[in-house]
Amino acid sequence: RIVYVNGDYLPEEEAKISIFDRGFLMADGVYEVTSVLDGKLLDFGGHAARLERSLTELDMAAPATTEELLEIHRALVEKNGIVDGLVYLQITRGAPGDRDFAFPDPATTPSTIVLFTQNKPGLADSPQARAGIKVISVPDIRWHRRDIKTVQLLYPSMAKMMAKKAGADDAWMVEDGYVTEGSSNNAYIVKGGKIITRQLSNDILHGITRAAVLRFAREAQMEVEERNFTIDEAKEADEALVTSASSFVMPVVEIDGVALGDGTPGRVARRLREIYLDESR
Ligand code: PDD
Repeated sequence: RIVYVNGDYLPEEEAKISIFDRGFLMADGVYEVTSVLDGKLLDFGGHAARLERSLTELDMAAPATTEELLEIHRALVEKNGIVDGLVYLQITRGAPGDRDFAFPDPATTPSTIVLFTQNKPGLADSPQARAGIKVISVPDIRWHRRDIKTVQLLYPSMAKMMAKKAGADDAWMVEDGYVTEGSSNNAYIVKGGKIITRQLSNDILHGITRAAVLRFAREAQMEVEERNFTIDEAKEADEALVTSASSFVMPVVEIDGVALGDGTPGRVARRLREIYLDESR
């Protein structure tokens, strides 16, 4: 696999990053995941805009323009022959010569930028999407700037492991009784045909897939409500689903062992997945 590191395209075995990189020592970095379907990047503009916002919020300089980033994405997709898959991008606050809590001077410590592809043949045609996934609820103990897409992913990883240990596929995080989001996706319920998902704030990541799915739903005259919902309300919903760049629209068929509807992917979830894939291709 050919990867990109600070200006160079290299075989992955030759890519090197300093042990003093602040991404490694302090999770001081941001990332994006953009999906590729039929060789085409999905919603690159949305991901680039959110990346810029994440960098600004953390007072980090952008190491490349949006046009340059697009070019790197396209080059990696081509060099690695990706038809269906993902492009991962990470920017960290670089590698000062030592460990220090204070941010280094960006004039002497440039940020580190890394991109790589993940090949996922048949990404849009996953058996999981046909069966739906099971989720468990876990407390949301993350920091309060979840709108910034940082590489601090230890708790979401732990939440995923708690789900696996419980025989489920993923975890929904809950704060004050309300669902915030999934470990790596935005969460929705469907009640009486209405699509309900948490409103945007610093409490959740502003999903690029979420924005597209809500836009397509409204265009298709489906009813959408952006508001908090409790985990108890979710267990009584007709349907549930999650969205992300890596899973598109994924039906949820069980929450904390409670089956939703007849325990198979719901009509609205299936329709949203179909619309999203149709519109994206
Ligand atoms: N995760 N919420 C969280 C906490 C996420 O990590 C993600 C994405 C989303 C969905 O955002 P988007 O639709 O822009 O992908 C919501 C990516 C896919 C990941 O970490 O791999």
